[in-house]
Amino acid sequence: MGKSLFGKILAILVAVLAVSFSITGVLLGIGLNRISADQKAEQLQMVAEKTEQALEYFLKQLNGFADRQLFTNYLESIAENSGSIIWVARTDGSIIFYSSTPKSVIDNLEKNEWGWYSLPDEWHNEPLQLGYSNQSGDFYGLFRDTGEEWVTVSKFFSMPDVPPLGITAEGIILVHSKLPTIRNTKYSIPRIFLISGGIGSLAALVMVFILARRLVRPLTEMKQAAGRIASGDFNKRIVIRGEDEIAELSRSFNSMVDALENLENARREFLGNISHELRTPMTTIKGFIDGILDGVIPPENQGAYLSIVRDEVRRMEKLVNDIMDLARFQAGDNRLNITVFDINERIRRCVISLQQMIVGKNLEFTADFETERLFVRADADAIQRVLLNLLHNAVKFTPEGGKITVRTYSKGKVYVEVEDNGPGIAKEELSHIFDRFYKADKSRGLDKTGVGLGLAIVRNIILSHNETIQVESEEGRGTKFIFTLPGANVPDAY
Ligand SMILES: Nc1ncnc2c1ncn2[C@@H]1O[C@H](COP(=O)(O)OP(=O)(O)OP(=O)(O)O)[C@@H](O)[C@H]1O
Ligand SMILES: [Mg+2]
Repeated sequence: MGKSLFGKILAILVAVLAVSFSITGVLLGIGLNRISADQKAEQLQMVAEKTEQALEYFLKQLNGFADRQLFTNYLESIAENSGSIIWVARTDGSIIFYSSTPKSVIDNLEKNEWGWYSLPDEWHNEPLQLGYSNQSGDFYGLFRDTGEEWVTVSKFFSMPDVPPLGITAEGIILVHSKLPTIRNTKYSIPRIFLISGGIGSLAALVMVFILARRLVRPLTEMKQAAGRIASGDFNKRIVIRGEDEIAELSRSFNSMVDALENLENARREFLGNISHELRTPMTTIKGFIDGILDGVIPPENQGAYLSIVRDEVRRMEKLVNDIMDLARFQAGDNRLNITVFDINERIRRCVISLQQMIVGKNLEFTADFETERLFVRADADAIQRVLLNLLHNAVKFTPEGGKITVRTYSKGKVYVEVEDNGPGIAKEELSHIFDRFYKADKSRGLDKTGVGLGLAIVRNIILSHNETIQVESEEGRGTKFIFTLPGANVPDAY
């Protein structure tokens, strides 16, 4: 699954969820811990304040050391009420009063030369600050053994005129309290995030599963269909669901299959036509040659039969050439040899090459040229091919004594018209005459030599020039082909 699209989407989603939930959880945890430490510190400052007031009262009003116990009791009660540990130390670090302190902390304290517990040496390194100062952690390692995090508020005090000698008493009040670590509670932030992240991931997993199936199913179908198409089966189409990009892709895929199917059908039909067109003359040729070899055809008749054989071979040659031209012009315009030439001149040449047939059928030929010369920008040989095919058709299909007119004129583009007053083409056949191997029913009687590739080649040549060709025809009245070419200025050579 890891390699499939579905697996990848799933893996990415779970990874993104896990990372974002953990980062949020950790950051929120740190933030909340800090807020709670600050809140705690504020509480402890109040405790320190109360302690200072009590200490002043004790030092100035009461009976000195005789009331020491009274003050200690008071200290103990504030400590207990506020859930903290209170120490009162002199500036030299000797702890002169302290409320109950866990044994593990007491054990870490050292006694100085006067027998007082003393704040650790590192404490002396810090400059004494007036007002409050907060710190969290294990207070120079003293609270390390409790295994918890502590917050400590220190308050410097200075009390003048302390009786009986009127000295100034200075020192520090330290209030320690456990930090209420949100981490440790049942509903700690990371835990909440873990649970909600888990639930979120599960929901996302289900959604991704549904989405991925929807995404992957058409792709799998396409893969299978592509495999079948490769082996020649065009029946399968993708079922289109919805209107999203996948549906769009499925639609494109289906139309591609349609196009491929059409192409494949056309290819089959084309091959069938070629085989048919080749087989007919070959059967004739084979029959005649066999006849000559077997002596069935007497020597005096052989000349006549051989000339039929020659015509058939010519026909096959033309067919093969036509097919090759068709392939060439279907391949696109990159093979065109574009030059500027006089279209009227080319028409004259074609007419000359068809002269014999025109005279033989007693056809009336008219050239209606708008100007003596008309220059176009195109592949001269290919266009001559077009003209020859159109003129040849006109000559072929127009009955004796008929009329053929060629017209050229410029109207934005250059227009060339080849018109005859022959039999015309039936309406229902007009749309097919440009198809390969298509011959209208009527013409079959009139012309046995053509195979129906001429107009297909014509159309391909004109299209590869990005120009257009049209046909107008009415049965019994005649046919007119009109095609366009890009005009050109008179070249310098003329
Ligand atoms: N001028 C025309 N008058 C009447 N019918 C025509 C004319 N030109 C073409 N057609 C019809 O269109 C069909 C296709 O023409 P196309 O030139 O492609 O084939 P063809 O002339 O029969 O054979 P080929 O050109 O391959 O020798 C013709 O068979 C004919 O039925
Ligand atoms: Mg033709």
